[in-house]
Amino acid sequence: MHIHRYEKLWFAISLLLIVGFIATVTYGAVGAGVTMLDNDETVDPNALSEHPEFSDPGVEQVGPNEYDVYVIAQQFIFRPGSTMVGQPPITVPANSTVNFHITSADVIHGFSVVGTNANTMAIPGEVAEITVNVSEPAEYGIVCHEYCGQAHHTMEGIMRVVPPAEYNGSEQ
Ligand code: CUA
Repeated sequence: MHIHRYEKLWFAISLLLIVGFIATVTYGAVGAGVTMLDNDETVDPNALSEHPEFSDPGVEQVGPNEYDVYVIAQQFIFRPGSTMVGQPPITVPANSTVNFHITSADVIHGFSVVGTNANTMAIPGEVAEITVNVSEPAEYGIVCHEYCGQAHHTMEGIMRVVPPAEYNGSEQ
């Protein structure tokens, strides 16, 4: 069978493209330091009240300048964080390292501390972990950025970074 010269050429080019696409997808998946949420830390979304940390979510000092913050996202609040509905704000002192541990009690939510690198999904059954270093006193807004139901647009909260002298861990 005779194959036209141009047909061979286009055949070669399309093969090259396919190989190129596979290479870029492979690089994007494993070569660029991309990792999936690891499933090591899971949690029963129906038994958060029995969880050692999520039963009493909030801020906990774990080192000289280091804090763990456990947050539960649920329709349509952050616990703690959503001050509009009576939750305390998330309050941490300046010049500290803050390790967020976030989960959801119902559906998928978002958790974004606007102006920081804290931006994740809150997935029922999974615990998302993000570390943020806070330096100056400031107030940050927290928003849910995954559509989670009728009042999604009202789901917001506050993180306060206060001067270390004003920080009172017992407020949490
Ligand atoms: Cu929670 Cu949108």
